[in-house]
Amino acid sequence: MSKGEIVSGCLAPHPPHLVYAANPPQNEPRSSGAGAWQALHDGYQKLQQSLDAKDFDVLIIHTPHWKTRVGHHLLGVPQFSGLSVDPIFPNLFRFSFDLEVDVDLAESICAAAEQRGLEMHMMRNPDFRVDYGTITSCHLAHPQWDKKIVCISSGSTHSDYSNESGELEMLALGEATREAVEKSGKRAVLLASTSLSHRHFTSEPADPEDPQYEHIYNANQSAWDEHVLGLMREGKCQQILDEMPDFIEQAISECREGALTWLFGALGVPDYPGEVYGYGTVIGTGNAVVEWRGPKQ
Ligand SMILES: [Fe+2]
Repeated sequence: MSKGEIVSGCLAPHPPHLVYAANPPQNEPRSSGAGAWQALHDGYQKLQQSLDAKDFDVLIIHTPHWKTRVGHHLLGVPQFSGLSVDPIFPNLFRFSFDLEVDVDLAESICAAAEQRGLEMHMMRNPDFRVDYGTITSCHLAHPQWDKKIVCISSGSTHSDYSNESGELEMLALGEATREAVEKSGKRAVLLASTSLSHRHFTSEPADPEDPQYEHIYNANQSAWDEHVLGLMREGKCQQILDEMPDFIEQAISECREGALTWLFGALGVPDYPGEVYGYGTVIGTGNAVVEWRGPKQ
């Protein structure tokens, strides 16, 4: 068996608004289809085209909205289906999902992370409700739903101990993910399902597509987002990691849930540029679609 590889690493945020705007048949609410959140929609289209041109076997996603109290969990049941309802935006996201899990690869990641001293657990409940972050990011990155997924929960070390200790765990979990992929012989696409800055408005306009209500919450948030995106474009991911504790605190970043650091850990902390496909706000939060395709591509 030849060595497996990560063929693409993606920052793939999960605003349910983007699924709502695209009107896929699985989502019950209907938008006007007039093209709200266009910059992010266009960014995801570019990512979809890039992934469509790749040969890959599995999508591996780290999601903030499956929050686990003790350790890092992975889906450990071969198939899930049901209706996913966003608890904050049930008016925008009621999505019928039907997905398959690569349980073998999930178990291998679990074992590799345990060897690094992390607290890990396989989730075996067949009635488990798959979180909407997973469903939204997977759908936006690859709406065909023709690949198995591996889904990793968000542990609580950042909040229970410190940003610094949480970051160390996420780097180790990323390294374990890469090791398991290489052993598997499979070709994997990684999705870090997270916004950048994450201070958001607390009330909604009557029309969720009304563009006059869509802008960054404040200038501090956009300054951080521009700074982080600049470092991504320059291939300075180690600097992003060095500044991550401040980014988390000062921009209320959803990266606190660990997805971006996990991705960087899995990619060996890229020193080559990420391609920024799009940036835009959703209810005041900063979101970017970015792909790291490796230094040779
Ligand atoms: Fe979120």
